[in-house]
Amino acid sequence: MKYLAPSILSANFLNLEKDIREAIEGGADFIHIDVMDGHFVPNLSLGFPIIKQIHKRFSIPLDVHLMISNAELYIEEYIEAGASFLTLHYEAVKHLHRYVEKIKQLGAKAGVSINPHTPIYNLEEILPYVDMILIMSVNPGFGGQRFIPTSVEKARKLKELIHQMELNPPPLIEMDGGINLENIDVLLNYVDIFVIGSSIFHTPNIYETTKKFKEKILRRV
Ligand code: DX5
Ligand code: ZN
Repeated sequence: MKYLAPSILSANFLNLEKDIREAIEGGADFIHIDVMDGHFVPNLSLGFPIIKQIHKRFSIPLDVHLMISNAELYIEEYIEAGASFLTLHYEAVKHLHRYVEKIKQLGAKAGVSINPHTPIYNLEEILPYVDMILIMSVNPGFGGQRFIPTSVEKARKLKELIHQMELNPPPLIEMDGGINLENIDVLLNYVDIFVIGSSIFHTPNIYETTKKFKEKILRRV
């Protein structure tokens, strides 16, 4: 299965409900929500109040990507706010195993994300415990950046590593940053969850663009 997770960081926050509805009608499987703290990444985005409102309004699973220092302090709150997937950064959390286990105990899916400079081999010991690995294909912090080309090879290596380790079920591979309708093709063999921000929300027709991405990942075009 392949999944599409539009990232609302690039949505129009004054029309958030409409933008999300269009993405859902266009075929979004999850809504990706980027939480930034101005410390782990050089930007601020949104937090609990908006996540709670989205969760109240829509039943679609929320894929919450925490780009914050001390993320472990807020795990309960994010799950309570409505996160179905909760992703911590490898670079931001010291006791990853403890907190991955905590996320799962609280009933959510646990993700671990790595920055572009972090080798996938650093994940070897945590892989058996996670539901998903998020490979950042830009430096986290902003929407609309250029895709880092070596991310393709990273996804390939991760898929190979998961295969070699015979993990069952295998963790899903998510990729986030700079994905568009041109470069997505080469990712289709390795990536399970596609996060798309500006290439969906900065287009004139969010519904139609989401549909195009969905058709691509389902290999209907
Ligand atoms: C960046 C965020 C992304 C961002 C992706 O730090 O994690 O989710 O919204 O946006 P695009 O698709 O525009 O690169
Ligand atoms: Zn993200």
